[in-house]
Amino acid sequence: MHHPTAAPHFVQLHQTDHAAVRAELAAGLQAQPAHVAPKFFYDALGSRLFDAITELAEYYPTRTEAAIFRAHATAMAQQVPPGAVLVDLGAGSCAKAAGLFPVLRPAAYVAVDISVDYLRDAMGPLQQRHPSLPMLGLGLDFSAQLALPAAATDWLARQGAAGAPRCVFYPGSSIGNFNPTEALALLRQARAVCAGGGPGGGLLIGVDRVKPKAVVEPAYDDPLGVTAAFNRNLLLHTNALLGTDFAPARWRHVAFFNEADSRIEMHLRSEGAQTVRWPGGERRFADGEQVHTENSYKWQPADFDALLREAGFGVSTHWTDARGWFSVFWAPV
Ligand code: AVI
Repeated sequence: MHHPTAAPHFVQLHQTDHAAVRAELAAGLQAQPAHVAPKFFYDALGSRLFDAITELAEYYPTRTEAAIFRAHATAMAQQVPPGAVLVDLGAGSCAKAAGLFPVLRPAAYVAVDISVDYLRDAMGPLQQRHPSLPMLGLGLDFSAQLALPAAATDWLARQGAAGAPRCVFYPGSSIGNFNPTEALALLRQARAVCAGGGPGGGLLIGVDRVKPKAVVEPAYDDPLGVTAAFNRNLLLHTNALLGTDFAPARWRHVAFFNEADSRIEMHLRSEGAQTVRWPGGERRFADGEQVHTENSYKWQPADFDALLREAGFGVSTHWTDARGWFSVFWAPV
């Protein structure tokens, strides 16, 4: 099934509709309460700030998940069939999936991110290290719609992997940035991707768990102010995209655990009354009024298992750390 491959193949399908982005941002700013979607955190600086967050002592998810993958790699390999197509959602640096190649021994690697530009730098050297593993970089906004396009299934067929089982890999607890209804829709689509391959496929997904406030709140409000900078940078990104005149210094980072909804909420609170203007619109903010920027849902394992079942998956298995802070689920088709 493996053919020597000199270079990864890239397909860019997502095209940014700039007018639609401006309309979405303007509608969010004019809504009551105002909101800006968390996808707008990730301009060049925001992505670097997120990387810095993952290094903070307080931000436990990244290193806890990595420890779970290290500790339970053998058990995971007993569930995920060898010779699968590994479909990596939000692949970015591809580092997490690459760490699993020796354990999972995939037949092909499909890295999905919104832009192949994010994938090129990582996939070139990765291909050098794994010359016989066919690699495809797919530029797709999977949060809007997750499905393997014909360009990907044709490529898989050319690699002789059309009938291989498919393992969708979604680490990092990014599923937590979707509300339960959206998460269910995404999981259903992930299941359809898995079901499109040979038998034995499934979803390998990292999920952050409900835990005491004293642990979870500092992870989103660290004493160095890195998460505050990450949150405020969204205003600079909005200025660049919509032409708003946000002054980040006039907005305070707010993060707290909403127990009723089992989620961390991040907001930006107006320091003093102010009016934000952009071409074609404006919004008056009272002192203390907030812009809601992110939810990060924390799950009880039983509830997440129920969500997986509702999405159509079979009986799941999960692995956790000694403190029970994070879980990696394997959900078979
Ligand atoms: C990307 N996502 C899983 C992060 C989270 O924990 O929800 C984003 C983040 N927001 C603040 N800190 C990190």
